[in-house]
Amino acid sequence: MSLLNMETNLKGRDFLSLKDFTQEEIVYLLDLADFLKTKTKNSQPYEVLKGKTLGLIFEKSSTRTRVSFEVGMVQLGGYPLFLSANDLQMGRGEPIKDTARVLSRYLDGIMIRTYNHSDVEELAAYANIPIINGLTDALHPCQVLADLQTIREHKGHNLQGMKLAYIGDGNNMAHSLMIGGAKLGMEIYIASPSEYTPNDQWVDIAKEIAEETGGKIVITNDIHEASKKADVLYADVWASMGQEKEAIERRTALEKYQINSDLLKKAAKDVIVMHCLPAHRGEEITEEVLEGEHSVVFDEAENRLHAQKAVLASLI
Ligand code: CP
Ligand code: NVA
Repeated sequence: MSLLNMETNLKGRDFLSLKDFTQEEIVYLLDLADFLKTKTKNSQPYEVLKGKTLGLIFEKSSTRTRVSFEVGMVQLGGYPLFLSANDLQMGRGEPIKDTARVLSRYLDGIMIRTYNHSDVEELAAYANIPIINGLTDALHPCQVLADLQTIREHKGHNLQGMKLAYIGDGNNMAHSLMIGGAKLGMEIYIASPSEYTPNDQWVDIAKEIAEETGGKIVITNDIHEASKKADVLYADVWASMGQEKEAIERRTALEKYQINSDLLKKAAKDVIVMHCLPAHRGEEITEEVLEGEHSVVFDEAENRLHAQKAVLASLI
């Protein structure tokens, strides 16, 4: 597919999950993210969204997602509008389907961070502008796009057969890494205790994708099997937003699912360590590893800006 066709094909689309994009489209977004990163670093303007407005609906807290979307929109010449769900009528029970149709009359796109994935799907079904998933309980595709950009920067552009081991709770990050990694032919190992394995629905989708691309999805309880010769080690919090009340029982169950120097020794010599942040040092990852020479977590956080600009510039 030519670049022009690719651009046309992406306009107006929603960004709810990487499962909805072809490998070619994802690689296009990653190449565009690299291009936009160079532009930003060289202070060269790329204002393709002049006159466009993006609404940002947040039902959960955020540092990276909020700031990178707001700054990204400004850098593209557009205008970001922060909308706290508490201040919207939606927070007082106005139906999502009404909110979707009203906001479609004012805005050129919406990014939403919320709890139920089905709420984002409903918003997308009723809106006639692009809807971008800025994290749900099920998925976090913007993070994974930035993660793939980061892996390419450190490991080269061909991710086929590369081994990524995610250690910990089978949560939204685990689901999205399986899907995004499978799309690019990676081998994704998820090591979790039996009580906190990833949801079958997303495992099945990722396995189907992996079959097409020659990738591999392995779900295991064994952190050593997962991390053996891994090219990438990935951690996320044991208790995600909305699960604060379960923090103590989760800490007990997930205690051994930590990325520390011992685990690092099992991985490939040039392993990179990733974490979507915010991190809880001493829980899912040790201070030593997070601050150590293998860690690329701040490159990863920076790439949220560049990867999301690629999404915004392509979809809107
Ligand atoms: N990784 C991530 O999404 O960070 P925030 O919760 O700060 O947006
Ligand atoms: N799993 C975490 C990711 C935060 C970016 C959460 O949902 O809270």
